[in-house]
Formats: sequence, C-alpha cells, structure tokens
Amino acid sequence: MSSLIPLDNIGVEYKSHGQAPRKVLENLDLEIAAGEFISVCGQTGCGKSTMLRLILGAERPGTGRVLIEGRELPRPDRHRGYVPQKYSLFPNQTVLDNITFGPEMEEFGLWGRLLPRFRSRRKELRHDAMGYLRQMGLQDADAHKYPDQLSGGMKQRVAIAQALIMKPRILLMDEAFSALDPGTRAEMQRQVRHIWADTGTTILFVTHNISEALYLGSRVVVLGRDSPEGSSRVIFELNVPDSARNTSGYPLRDEMERLTRLIEGATDGGQREPETVELREV
Ligand SMILES: Nc1ncnc2c1ncn2[C@@H]1O[C@H](COP(=O)(O)OP(=O)(O)OP(=O)(O)O)[C@@H](O)[C@H]1O
Ligand SMILES: [Mg+2]
Repeated sequence: MSSLIPLDNIGVEYKSHGQAPRKVLENLDLEIAAGEFISVCGQTGCGKSTMLRLILGAERPGTGRVLIEGRELPRPDRHRGYVPQKYSLFPNQTVLDNITFGPEMEEFGLWGRLLPRFRSRRKELRHDAMGYLRQMGLQDADAHKYPDQLSGGMKQRVAIAQALIMKPRILLMDEAFSALDPGTRAEMQRQVRHIWADTGTTILFVTHNISEALYLGSRVVVLGRDSPEGSSRVIFELNVPDSARNTSGYPLRDEMERLTRLIEGATDGGQREPETVELREV
C-alpha cells in the first residue's frame, strides 16, 4: 500500500542572524499510512514540532520532499488540522466564535458573510461547535466566555475543538494535552482515540509522556540526534498492535513497562540505529 504521507530524506536547517546555520533534521525518513495514529517522542529541541510544521505545509524542507497523497502541498489547508504547541485564541472573540472562525473563513471568507445563507450556515456551525465543546468536557456556559476568562487547560481544549470542527483528514497535535490535569488528560486521551476510531483520521501526536504515546499511538516514532550538536532523524519505531491492549484499549501492564523501557532507552541515546520492534502476541 502506498503511504499517505511519505517523508523522504528530509533535512531542515535554520539560519539565525549572526550565527552559523544549524541543521535540525537530516536524513529523516518516515512513511505514514492513511488512518495511522502515530505518537512522536524525542528530547526537547530535537525537531518534533518542526516535523509537524513540515507536514502541515507551514514550512518547507531544505532537502527531501514531503508528499501528501502524492502531492507537495506548499501551504496549510483545511484537510490538515493543527493544534500547535503554542496556540493562541482571538482574545476579543468568545469561545464559540473562536471555534467557528476557521470553517466560516474557509467557506465564506470576509465578504461572503454578507450572503443570505451565511446566517443559516453559521447556526449549523455553532451547533457543531457546541458538540465539540461538550466532547472536550467544557460546559455550555463556557461557550460565551472570552479567552482571558478561561484556565490554560480550557484554552487548550478550545484549541483542539478549533482543529476538530474542520474535520481534517490529517490531524497534527503538538503536546496538545500538556496543560491538562491527569484526570482531564485521561478523558481527552479517550476522546481522541474515539475520534480516531470513528473517523479514520490520520493522527500525528507529539508527546513527552511515554504512557500517553503508547496508549494513543498505533505506532510510536522517536526522533533523536547522534550527538548533542548533531541533527535529528527517526532513530526508533515501535508498533503497538491491538493484541497488546486490553478491552479498554490500554496496553497491558507488562507490555507497557517493557515498551516504556525500550522508548526511554531510545530517547536518552541508548538506541542508535532505526529499528522496528513488533510486540509479541499476547
Ligand atoms: N524558526 C526557527 N528559527 C531558528 N531555529 C528554530 C526555529 N524553529 C525551531 N528552531 C530550532 O530548531 C530546533 C528544533 O525545534 P523544535 O521546536 O522542532 O523542537 P521540539 O522537538 O519540538 O522541542 P520541544 O520538545 O521542546 O517542543 C530547536 O533547536 C529550535 O531552537
Ligand atoms: Mg515542540
């Protein structure tokens, strides 16, 4: 099967003013199949967010190509949803308006708002937005609040709803649960896995939390460098088949411990060559 998103020999170099250029990614290869849920791990600064922005089309690689369904797409579009690590909401718009802004702009632009059908479509979108808000565990009353009336975790969930309402085929989530308390985080993990199972969306999810990576991902990919000053590539991959999960979808405890050690070994520099580990059947 051809992959939905092949990343082929990707290299990215940043030039900062007055400093020598720095290679962040080099020789990065990754094949992403349609409908996969990939968790992306790796030490801070190794280029995880950069890789997501390449797939989003917000950045272009210096070398290599990122193809989406066989085409190079130079800029973001509605088929690729993005929950950035540093998201921002429009401060002067309510939660509901923040969520419906994306589809409204996409469908009507600025002037299309004057069209008669805008009002009825807006009503539908606001209805959809309420559904996503509730799915994210927010209350109906939160819909009419402004961002500065929300906690960090609430804002983060609004940012996720903003991405979901576009119904993207590819969803890129960059540490999207980092501001949530453990209980809310667990609930959000369940919701995102449900959305993935229901919609077949291809998801890339960056996280520093290994148990989260193992619970969410059907595959865990680790980016890492050869040396502290070096550039990053995929150094480790691991498939997490359904047979390693209990009926609630959680990896079985023994497997969780074993896989956590493998990933930790890779992340702290123990693993050097790309390697794919298949879980044993349980
Ligand atoms: N626009 C930019 N200009 C210059 N350097 C950049 C730029 N964006 C990222 N970098 C550098 O590239 C490297 C990788 O950054 P990136 O944000 O992709 O890392 P990350 O793996 O997401 O880290 P974290 O886990 O801390 O979020 C870092 O050293 C960062 O300073
Ligand atoms: Mg990052």
